[in-house]
Amino acid sequence: MTDKTVTLGDIEFPERKVWVKTYGCQMNYHDSERLFSHLKKLNFEKTEEQEDADLLIFNTCAVRDLANQKFYSHLGETKHLKKKEKKPKVAVCGCIAQTDGKELIKKYPQLDFAFGTDVIDSINDFVYRSYAGDNKFHVNTWDRSSDYSIETQITHGTPQAFVNIIKGCDKFCSYCIVPFTRGREKSRRLKEVVDDVRKLVEHQGVQEVTLLGQNVNSYGKENDESLAMLIQALDEVNGLELIRYTTSHPYDVSDELIAVHGSAKKLSPHLHLPVQSGSNSVLQRMLRQYTAEHYLGLLEKLRKAKPDIVISSDIIAGFPNETEEEHRDTIKLLDAAQFDFIYSYAFSVRKGTKAARMEDILTRDIRGRRLREIQAHQLKIQEKIRKEMVGKTYRVLIEGKNTMKGVEKWKGRTDCSRIVHVDSTEENLKWKWRHVEITEATALSCQGKFVTVQ
Ligand code: SAM
Ligand code: SF4
Ligand code: F3S
Repeated sequence: MTDKTVTLGDIEFPERKVWVKTYGCQMNYHDSERLFSHLKKLNFEKTEEQEDADLLIFNTCAVRDLANQKFYSHLGETKHLKKKEKKPKVAVCGCIAQTDGKELIKKYPQLDFAFGTDVIDSINDFVYRSYAGDNKFHVNTWDRSSDYSIETQITHGTPQAFVNIIKGCDKFCSYCIVPFTRGREKSRRLKEVVDDVRKLVEHQGVQEVTLLGQNVNSYGKENDESLAMLIQALDEVNGLELIRYTTSHPYDVSDELIAVHGSAKKLSPHLHLPVQSGSNSVLQRMLRQYTAEHYLGLLEKLRKAKPDIVISSDIIAGFPNETEEEHRDTIKLLDAAQFDFIYSYAFSVRKGTKAARMEDILTRDIRGRRLREIQAHQLKIQEKIRKEMVGKTYRVLIEGKNTMKGVEKWKGRTDCSRIVHVDSTEENLKWKWRHVEITEATALSCQGKFVTVQ
């Protein structure tokens, strides 16, 4: 037993190492941060080396087949670790564990326990149970209380923090598994979030917060609060530099929120607003509750309120039975919307969703071809938009260094979320704000030089 051993009940926890692999969206990355900060109390330190770890946790994503496959193949590779002297514990959490935890435990002998998305804060109870000899259990219960109250836990020591403001999703878009893996919408109270952010700024040096949820625009509905009200309150927090939020559903973008984009001093001039398709008939089959015209109308209002706003989006190629004409409507929408960038995916069948029950005549090849067409078209638009940045100056938070073609450069992110690289011999710039004038830009990258702004 070392001096640092922690005792819980009748079990001793000497210093150990935990390795966490995170798949999926920012919600999962944020959840992994929570895992680390809880496990610290049980004497676990983070390790990047799987072979060094006493505890392995896979924080999984179920949104598309590819994310699933990656996890299953990584899990398969852990079988040999159980034969080593260390015999690490292996656990799975996140979205696949929520829906398939029981089957996973049965099927994979190397798995010790599985836990779902709504019990993430009980990680230390599960670790205790496992070290106490309880093997092969799974917990995927939902928290039935109407309240959602937490405190943000971070251990990474950077000035950027994710702050959960709403969990779950009530939208049930016909293709999407998330409402089944994350449960019903529940918002934290506005005052709690503001106090939380204030503490992060004062005690942890946080300068930039990203407000998180699957649909942050529905934030606060049950409490007569709203995202617009929350941003206005956070805009007053001293020491906070930048507020971002993600992800939004176009149906819930209110006029108040659009106005706040024009008035809030600290709100990022970048908005990620997933449209999914440019075809009204596909949007209807997706159960998205808006039309392409309504979506473009929102962009117009947002650009009027905040002329330099940068918009990005998500697109799904090859929704079941999508016709060529419907696909072309999406390409047309790209022209009309002028997105700064998009995340685009081929439709992936998710068991249990409405779209999985639709008969579908599209083949993998058709989906692949449409996805490539969407991406190629967007790249042309993107190149034009990025070239217009040349000569303009942006405020940038320097995140670190990157080596490009053998040259080490500083890498930063503008307020509007664009990555820029700067070739400079200046030292100690990490996590400093600088002004950068863009000197060169392509569809995928921007180069610049540091400038002084009076
Ligand atoms: N809540 C956000 C919204 O409503 O747009 C995004 C949620 S989801 C985690 C992120 C993206 O994954 C979606 O915007 C969608 O483009 C994509 N996606 C979700 N389900 C999919 C599926 N079954 N096949 C392909 N892409 C999917
Ligand atoms: Fe999925 Fe739709 Fe909810 Fe987004 S809004 S998480 S796409 S169901
Ligand atoms: Fe994936 Fe779950 Fe996020 S399904 S995208 S990790 S909410």
